Amino acid sequence: MTEKTVVDLAAWQDLHKQAAAWRGRHLKDLFAEDPQRGERYRAEACGLYLDYSKNWLDEAALTGLFKLAEERGLVARRDAMFAGEHINVTEDRAVLHVALRLPASAHCLVDGADVVPEVQAVLQRMADFSSRVRDGSWLGASGKPIRTIINLGIGGSYLGPEMAYLALRRFRHPRIEVRFVANVDGAALEQALAHLDPAETLFIVASKTFTTLETMTNARAARQWLVAALGEAAVAQHFVAVSTNAEAVRAFGMDTEHMFGFWDWVGGRYSMDSAIGLSTMIAVGAEAFFDLLAGFHAMDEHFRTSPLRQNLPVLHGLISVWYNNFFGAQSQAVLPYAQDLRRLPAYLQQLQMESNGKSVDLQSRPLPVDSGMVIWGEPGTDGQHSFYQLLHQGTRLIPCDLIGFLEPLAESGAQHDLLMANLIAQAEALAFGRTAEQLREEGAAPAQIPFRVCPGNRPSNILLLEALTPRALGILVAFYEHSVFTQGAIWGIDSFDQWGVELGKVLALRVLEDIQGKAQHAHDSSTQQILARYRAARKG
Ligand code: F6P
Repeated sequence: MTEKTVVDLAAWQDLHKQAAAWRGRHLKDLFAEDPQRGERYRAEACGLYLDYSKNWLDEAALTGLFKLAEERGLVARRDAMFAGEHINVTEDRAVLHVALRLPASAHCLVDGADVVPEVQAVLQRMADFSSRVRDGSWLGASGKPIRTIINLGIGGSYLGPEMAYLALRRFRHPRIEVRFVANVDGAALEQALAHLDPAETLFIVASKTFTTLETMTNARAARQWLVAALGEAAVAQHFVAVSTNAEAVRAFGMDTEHMFGFWDWVGGRYSMDSAIGLSTMIAVGAEAFFDLLAGFHAMDEHFRTSPLRQNLPVLHGLISVWYNNFFGAQSQAVLPYAQDLRRLPAYLQQLQMESNGKSVDLQSRPLPVDSGMVIWGEPGTDGQHSFYQLLHQGTRLIPCDLIGFLEPLAESGAQHDLLMANLIAQAEALAFGRTAEQLREEGAAPAQIPFRVCPGNRPSNILLLEALTPRALGILVAFYEHSVFTQGAIWGIDSFDQWGVELGKVLALRVLEDIQGKAQHAHDSSTQQILARYRAARKG
């Protein structure tokens, strides 16, 4: 029997009716009708507090969303992931990033084999290596300890490690700096290498496939830089690899003794807690890295075992679906009120948009509804002085996540009150706005009133954690991973492949042949013009 498409489900149709009847309702009224709303629509687990009361939700809408999850088989799909089934159907792979953070005593079977011992063995090797780099006993070729690590990687082999390095600033080793090079633009490597002593520099070539053009190009250039200063024999002490592809690591001329492996059941964008996190571990130490994993695992367990009504990632995912599919929201803003989390929006962009930017369902049919939204954001309070104007008075519906911490992230704790006051006030302003009447009472110039009215009724979630510790970071990232999973399960798509990025890669190589005069491929007239112009400029 062919599985129903999502639009044929009774719950989907019911939610459409509810959404149509919703028009005209204002968050202000919801709060006025129910003085306990702020207590009713909140959930907490693993130290993450989610206030979802400032959303266009009532009991009927929530019931409808959980009904949708049920009709869509969310629980069965979640259980299939944890059981190691090949839920990444287009690549015929298990999806088991959750196995990366299991305790050593646990078991997890992938195709009949327990992967936990392998995971633990790699973690142990990472811990040994990290502690040698940190305590200065891993020496460069000329006998100096390492001061700078350069992580060469892109996408999932870059965004998570960079985000975590910045987020865990307060836990970092004082002697060791980590720099990140992703872009194939030579400016990225040039900037990273500036003022560095090769004798004190260690490169981590981080690539799941070890074939990614950007990373391999940067790795070759970095190697040349090192060899020019220290000679070929220095490579072994200054280059390590993180990959699933031992053969390609060898072919690149690197010793697999200095390689840290992971597995095809870890997607690139789900890999910051695998060996891809080696730079994180060197920066913060093995103990803090294990705390990060423990945070991930705590949220995994919450997602795996909690009833849907109290399940934080499920709630978050379903609320996103509600705005996306029933109110036409096209984007979602992530606004961390934490300078150290400034790369979280970029990290979540890949996590969510590469996972759920799909238009074919698991039965190979065109998806009849919109899938993943555009994810974007900047830290508060910076964004307030740039794009929040549009959030408050623009014409678009943009649900927001405001993320804050109870404990200050900086020594100057006094500024924290002001930071958090802004987070709390922004959610209030988005929800309740400011009416013409209030402005009149405040004595605003009558001619300005229409321009100064803030309509409010703009939905947001508030996410609060105690402090930005490694554990809290793991909890937060796993929360978003499982929210993405929930959304993908509702649409019935494969959230774990990324075929869409292939075409651009293939065409870039083809265009390169044209640029280098190795071929003359047929192109459209626009592409031909640009190519001719570029070639002429390069010759001139
Ligand atoms: O952009 C596609 C992609 O495959 C991402 O999914 C991945 O994170 C990135 O490229 C890097 O891949 P790799 O780790 O194999 O170099």
